[in-house]
Amino acid sequence: MNVVLSVQEMREISEKVRRSGDTIALVPTMGALHEGHLALVREAARQSSRVTVSIFVNPTQFGPNEDFERYPRDLEGDLRKLGKLKVDHVFVPDAASMYAKDAETRVELARLPNHLCGLNRVGHFSGVATVVLKLFNICRPDVAVFGLKDYQQVRVIEKMVADLDVPVRVVRHPTVREPDGLAMSSRNAYLSAEERARAPVIYATLRRMAEAVGRGEKDPEALVRSGRARIEEAMGKVEYLSVVDPDTLDDVQVVDRPVVIAAAVRFGNTRLIDNVMAEPGKGLK
Ligand code: PAJ
Repeated sequence: MNVVLSVQEMREISEKVRRSGDTIALVPTMGALHEGHLALVREAARQSSRVTVSIFVNPTQFGPNEDFERYPRDLEGDLRKLGKLKVDHVFVPDAASMYAKDAETRVELARLPNHLCGLNRVGHFSGVATVVLKLFNICRPDVAVFGLKDYQQVRVIEKMVADLDVPVRVVRHPTVREPDGLAMSSRNAYLSAEERARAPVIYATLRRMAEAVGRGEKDPEALVRSGRARIEEAMGKVEYLSVVDPDTLDDVQVVDRPVVIAAAVRFGNTRLIDNVMAEPGKGLK
């Protein structure tokens, strides 16, 4: 496993790998790796002959009052975990080499960011789309693997790839969960023991809402009302809880087709997100 720190070197290696006829799968991450990330890496190895993992805490996707400074960083631990898997290159650039001082180009999406997380995290998805396009151009993947835990992010990347004819196949990977259902996240490390004990209410609630859809509940407002009450009972502060169209992320008025039910909830200062897919007559998908 080769650790690459320079943009120029990563670009040259990627070029050489492609010329030799190998295919590359990329897993972009911000480090502090957990089993969710590692599942993506295993999927990447199934998808292509070479695997690149990037680790970069991208400053442009954090708002001024967000957790960029205190975001968990553990490069040594990350490399140890990746060393046990089939990984060829780990790309670890620093911010100065990723962003020229005079850079002025960004990727902006017109509609997808005007929903869910984008409403409270202005500029976040532009930061994500821009850094992911840069990572694609440097690492030259045939395939890139993203987790459904960040559903809106997956849609943003899929849309960017389609709109800008980016020659990368985007693979969706299911959300990896703790045994009690809590979606794995680097930010779970911020939770106090008490908050951690309460946090599984998010997935439990999303599941229950999906089951109600399965039993024929068609009214998104009724679903959200009871879901919100349940999360608030467990002292979670609901930032949003929404029943949306899986493609556009628009709120649905009647649940008469597959939907995504997505939530952002604060426990103390920690903001957690999760989502499920639900289908009328079937329930949790
Ligand atoms: P990060 O939060 O480190 O996540 C990296 C990848 O791991 C993303 O595709 C995310 O959806 C996936 N992931 C995280 N937790 C997961 C879980 N419990 N199950 C399955 N997949 C999970 O997302 C980012 O970094 C950044 O925005 C990035 C795309 C790297 C751009 O900076």
